[in-house]
Amino acid sequence: MNIARQSKNTIHQSQINEGMHSLEKAVQTLNSQWRLNYHFMPPANWMNDPNGLIYHNGEYHVFYQHNPHAPVWGPMYWGHATSTDLVNWTHLPIALAPSTTYDYHPDGGGCYSGSAVNDNGTLTLVYTGRVIGSNSASSQCLATSVDGVVFEKHPANPVISKPPLDGLEGFRDPKVWRHGQSWYMVIGSGRNDKGLILLYTSSDLVSWEYMGIASESDGSQGNMWECPDLFPLGDKHVLIYSPMGLERLKTMYLVGQMDYEKGKFIPELGGELDFGRDYYAAQTFLDEHQRRVVMGWMESWNQEHPTGQHGWVGALTLPRELTLGPDGHLLIKPLDNLQSLRENHVTIENLDLGSNEEYLAPINSDSLELKLSLDLALTTAQFVNIKLRCSAHKEEKTVVSVIFQENQVKVDTTSSGVGPTGVTSCFYRVGEDQVLKLHLFLDKSSLEVFVNDGEAVLTNRIFPQEESLGLRLFSGQGRTHLNSLSMWNLKKVAK
Ligand code: FRU
Repeated sequence: MNIARQSKNTIHQSQINEGMHSLEKAVQTLNSQWRLNYHFMPPANWMNDPNGLIYHNGEYHVFYQHNPHAPVWGPMYWGHATSTDLVNWTHLPIALAPSTTYDYHPDGGGCYSGSAVNDNGTLTLVYTGRVIGSNSASSQCLATSVDGVVFEKHPANPVISKPPLDGLEGFRDPKVWRHGQSWYMVIGSGRNDKGLILLYTSSDLVSWEYMGIASESDGSQGNMWECPDLFPLGDKHVLIYSPMGLERLKTMYLVGQMDYEKGKFIPELGGELDFGRDYYAAQTFLDEHQRRVVMGWMESWNQEHPTGQHGWVGALTLPRELTLGPDGHLLIKPLDNLQSLRENHVTIENLDLGSNEEYLAPINSDSLELKLSLDLALTTAQFVNIKLRCSAHKEEKTVVSVIFQENQVKVDTTSSGVGPTGVTSCFYRVGEDQVLKLHLFLDKSSLEVFVNDGEAVLTNRIFPQEESLGLRLFSGQGRTHLNSLSMWNLKKVAK
């Protein structure tokens, strides 16, 4: 290491230490009311996007957009944690801090989102450096680590110093993967009100050649694509992106073919990666079994974050496995690793609810997994409501409804408690077996609803009172027949 590089990295280390100091102070004053039991969260203060998800040397690494100084978005650091099972996490020291104080600051305004790769054994982070000040210029940078804990910024930074074309809106969130003998990188951007991804290739991660625009919005898919991720799945490639400028915040996917020669991704079909209010900036990685796993930010931009006054904001969704369904769309299922959280199993078979009957489930918990199998052939109801986190007098509740005539699942958080609320929905398909399956994960301030073995997912944050713990089922205007209702209490793992 040369001396100039050493001094820069020493300053980097002292900035990390300042961040850690703020974090340690904030941890002491946290209010635990809405701290999640089994979802990944920052130790304190702010987090947004998951970054650099990777399985490396027998461990999973999660990095994340982090402001260790306050529970609001601010100068972006990379927080860091590891896991051996994607369920239990260990927080590690901050991995990256913005380099504000020395004469070398492609990332003085923040270390924005990016990815991680294994470069011949070296854990390498690829991230967007934001230049300090009002100028919003950004570039792409590298950082490497020998021990997987301490990261040094690369002396060649920035490795891509400016956007390849004029008139682009944004130039950020590099996702790098290997195909054949080469590295490829997609970067999120936009032009003429259309989101797009820029494609680059490299043999050494340091010198990058621009290949062109690999895919672009058709005009209805947002004006800038944040956090793109392009990866092979089965015999297809999938592009995930978080479009800006749409009415509602969402994360989308496209399934298609990748032509590496021409540098073009040709979409064939697409959909929403999640239909809830609180899901954004998803990133994928391959787990130790070569399964494609996705995790997203379980929060939303541009809204109140009620946990802010409790000293923290932001979490990650549960890890979910992505596969291609028979119709070519994505199936999104909770990873089976999560079964290690289960305790106190109760299953009720053949539960028949009469018209307008309410069933009070024999469980009181803010940390639950529920599986319901509904027999549509034996059901005459207009709707069934699954009411979670109900207060004693039922004013407070989070309602998952199935509207049978419309083949629709709705999640209504308007009476869930404080904070931003709303109604989100998706459609379900009815197969020959006439069964609708719902799979719910409830945590202290979140609800994830999986429909029909991964056909759709809805993720929402909720902020109820601690004592609202009731679980009720209501069959509206007709009978509802459940083949089974399985319930587990889920253990606490998150710190
Ligand atoms: C997405 C995003 C990214 C950016 C990061 C900054 O949520 O806006 O595009 O890199 O957050 O924190």
